[in-house]
Amino acid sequence: MHLKAINRLKTILIEDYRLSCELTHLDGEIENNFKIQTTHGDKFILKVYGSERNNQFLDFQEKILLYLSDNHKNLVVPKIIKTTNGHLSTFFKDEKGDKRNIMLISWIPGRVWKHVNPHSKKLRYQLGLTCGTLSKALNNFDHKFAHRFFDWDIAQGLWTKEYLNLFKSREKKMILGMLDAFERIQPKYKKLKKSVVHNDANDFNCLVSEDVLNPEVVALIDFGDAIYTQVINDVAISCCYAIMDFEDPLEACLSILKGYHQAFPLEEDALACLYFCIGIRLIISVTKSRINKLKEPKNAYLQISDKSSWKLLKKWSTLDSQFAHFNFRKACGLNPHPAYNAFSNWASSRTVSLKSFFPSLQKEKVYNLDLSVSSSWLGQSSEFNDLDWFENEINKIQKKNPEKIISGGYLEPRSLYTDSSYEKIGNYGTESRCIHLGIDFWIPANTPIHTFLDGEVVVSFNDSGYKKYGGLVVLKHCEDGIFFFTLYGHLSYSTILKLKVGDQLKKGDQIGFIGNSTENGEWSPHLHFQIMLSLLNYNNDFPGVAYYNQIKTWKSICPDPNLLFKLNKLNLQNHNKASQILKSRQKYLGKGMSLQYKEPLHIVRGSGVYLIDQNGRKYLDTVNNVAHVGHENSRVVIAGQRQMGMLNTNSRYLHKNITDLAEKLKETLPPELSVFHFVNSGSEANELALRMVKAVTGSSQMLVSEVGYHGNTNGCIEISSYKFDGKGGKGAQKHIHVFPMPDCFRGKYRGADAAIEYANEVRVLINNIKNKGNKLGGFIIEPILSCGGQVELPEGFLKSIYPQVRKAGGLCISDEVQTGFGRVGKAFWGFELHGVIPDIITLGKPMGNGHPVAAVVCSKQVANKFANGMEFFNTFGGNPVSCAIAKEVIEVVLDKQLQYNALNVGEYLKSELKKLANKNPIMGSIRGQGLFLGIELVSKNKDPLAEHASYLVNRMKKNGVLMSIDGPDKNVIKIKPPIIFSKQNSRQLIITLSKILKEDFMQIY
Ligand SMILES: Cc1ncc(COP(=O)(O)O)c(C=O)c1O
Repeated sequence: MHLKAINRLKTILIEDYRLSCELTHLDGEIENNFKIQTTHGDKFILKVYGSERNNQFLDFQEKILLYLSDNHKNLVVPKIIKTTNGHLSTFFKDEKGDKRNIMLISWIPGRVWKHVNPHSKKLRYQLGLTCGTLSKALNNFDHKFAHRFFDWDIAQGLWTKEYLNLFKSREKKMILGMLDAFERIQPKYKKLKKSVVHNDANDFNCLVSEDVLNPEVVALIDFGDAIYTQVINDVAISCCYAIMDFEDPLEACLSILKGYHQAFPLEEDALACLYFCIGIRLIISVTKSRINKLKEPKNAYLQISDKSSWKLLKKWSTLDSQFAHFNFRKACGLNPHPAYNAFSNWASSRTVSLKSFFPSLQKEKVYNLDLSVSSSWLGQSSEFNDLDWFENEINKIQKKNPEKIISGGYLEPRSLYTDSSYEKIGNYGTESRCIHLGIDFWIPANTPIHTFLDGEVVVSFNDSGYKKYGGLVVLKHCEDGIFFFTLYGHLSYSTILKLKVGDQLKKGDQIGFIGNSTENGEWSPHLHFQIMLSLLNYNNDFPGVAYYNQIKTWKSICPDPNLLFKLNKLNLQNHNKASQILKSRQKYLGKGMSLQYKEPLHIVRGSGVYLIDQNGRKYLDTVNNVAHVGHENSRVVIAGQRQMGMLNTNSRYLHKNITDLAEKLKETLPPELSVFHFVNSGSEANELALRMVKAVTGSSQMLVSEVGYHGNTNGCIEISSYKFDGKGGKGAQKHIHVFPMPDCFRGKYRGADAAIEYANEVRVLINNIKNKGNKLGGFIIEPILSCGGQVELPEGFLKSIYPQVRKAGGLCISDEVQTGFGRVGKAFWGFELHGVIPDIITLGKPMGNGHPVAAVVCSKQVANKFANGMEFFNTFGGNPVSCAIAKEVIEVVLDKQLQYNALNVGEYLKSELKKLANKNPIMGSIRGQGLFLGIELVSKNKDPLAEHASYLVNRMKKNGVLMSIDGPDKNVIKIKPPIIFSKQNSRQLIITLSKILKEDFMQIY
């Protein structure tokens, strides 16, 4: 708009509204909208309607706003500000001489939806709720202008058919498919409930509160597209815009629908049309964009959502419309499948005998086999993925239970499918298709299967490939007017050769035979039996497992087969729910034992770099440096199992394992560190190291780092500033001397001389000890301070201190509990990074890959003085099982070159993190070595951002990546995964991190 026109508007605002103000132009398709700020600071919106907007339109706008503000005072809607003469609007002539109507409305504070990130489930629900509330309010409102032709009205969307020639043939086909389907549903669609609705809840028309942590939807604005139409169209539009950027748009729109339905209940028939309404709105959008591009190629506003609309339309048209419909029903609290109740009523009046299913077996009882992710029967993945192992174990159960059929598995979350081929990227990271939808019967190959109902063969197919169905048959049945399907997977090849689609089978007829592992997808022989109330759009396949977040929908499409068998034993096992465990924990465990995350996790299985929860959700674990060579590393597990089955006793007998372990460790250490004492934990190791210090030096005066942590025993707490200076701590005791944490990023000294300055601080403490007439006992520090927040010691710091400590008669201890065993990449042990050799090192955490085993390694001189006659006895330390495990851990590290992996992957990850930090200054420092890294979150002034760290870690968890926080200010994200972590794992971490870093809360600091 020209400056002249803007000045004219200013005059009108003064003359007609007595407002002297500044105008800021806001985007709009037809209207010119201005933000008005008066000299008194009041804000308004000035709408300057397009010249094509006639008086009827203006009257409609006035009436709708008045109606809402007069009759629905609880709704937040813009209010009309009258002119000083009491008019609802006024007008002016623009630079072209065209009459433009003007309306001044109240300002509603907030951000537009487009500028909000993330669009959480809660926010989407509120969007639906707000749209629904508005439609409900408008339900008794009407206006002649609401009954106009309007090209954005979904009900009138078939006009787009005339513009198909604007699209390429592939696009045309997709659009035509949707338009044809929409035409087909017209008889039902035309009868749906209608009302005047907002009709344009796009991402610029929804206002959200400014609160970035707990944003709330405030209001819908701009009634320019309001129209009398099917109410479901309004839902479709709000869904369209709000789901555009989601990986899984169907999941994303369910909360919007739920909110809408809550406010203004939708009819069942409307839900059956929603999928197509969304499709049509997207088609209108892309068609309008094409037309506009031809007319006004330079108008960017008109193309604003074109790219996103296409992306969504392409995704949307690949969805199964029926499946979408069932999900919509679920969101509205209905049975997802409309025939579910009819089927379960019919099934409840029948009982199918297993003898009629498998007549040759003559068995009626079942043995329920738990194959869920939390089943300990399954053992580890290397076992259950081994066909021979699996078959052998099944045979063992069968031998013990000859009269029973081994079966089960309906709705079980299974590890068997947590393999990456069963994964997809959903709205919250990776999802695994692992919920089993049928019942498995583990019966011998070649067992004949008979149909217990009349049925028609609709699928007879060889679904070949690893872990597929192999021979697959689906029968269609109609019983008492109810249609449904039964699926038989893992059959023999001969079965599908014989059965043809269209064959009619009579109750009792033989369907075929159980396949063997060469023809059934490489499984141990079994029948996968499933019931389906719809085939959806599958032809030669049907999912036998589903994603956990769709379980309710699938449960309704594929009812429990046990509705027919009625076998008590087949009912779902009562797996412990997270909420029950939480309650017991609160009741029985010490309050000091904390849980991680706002919503604690219930982890039941580990596998490599992943932790898996009770529902089969896989989390990428960047926290567990204990599971050093990977969670449940099979070599380590087997080493432990074998020795456990043979002997486990104390170290007072001769046993090779303890000396083998010592020799293995010795290979990794400098000659000076040659004597081993085995214990059970890092704390115990440090406790023993303290005893050694006292025995050797006769002194308990210790030099310790600020924020250092060395364990949970009395002695360890005394030397852990992290604890005695932290919550509940009582400060340092007299014999403990704390030097500043040698942190060059935010610590006391940060410049080039930091190492010397920090070393000087230690020297001063040594002198103080001396001056008070005391003797120094020892100096303890980690090579990289973990609890301090992955703080790397400045170069030369240890090299300068060690001689001073020794000169003062003290011993140097390196706490390698976190940093040892190759984690730091460049070296096997952390102290080696600093070119020093300690007198004592303490080992723990990764040493047993989760098994409690730890050690103190010291020089001969220290060991000899410590052996002063008092026996060192440890019931469990150095037992044959622990030693077998620890030796295997070292061997895995060496065989698999995992120190090199830590270096290689660690450097890659660190450089990727640095790239991310360049774009996100909140990541103030990226530091660490190998796979022992840290990200420090700080403000522009280097103030610590603990809340941001907590937000980030919780959001990462929601998106499938586990991270932890540390540092004195709780603002450092620690990365210390199993050292088998790969570059691909690093990429998943980086992608997820960059997604969360874009969220509003992470942008404001
Ligand atoms: C550096 C360091 N030393 C010692 C310990 C104590 O080890 P544990 O918990 O096995 O007793 C820990 C534990 O986190 C640690 O981080």
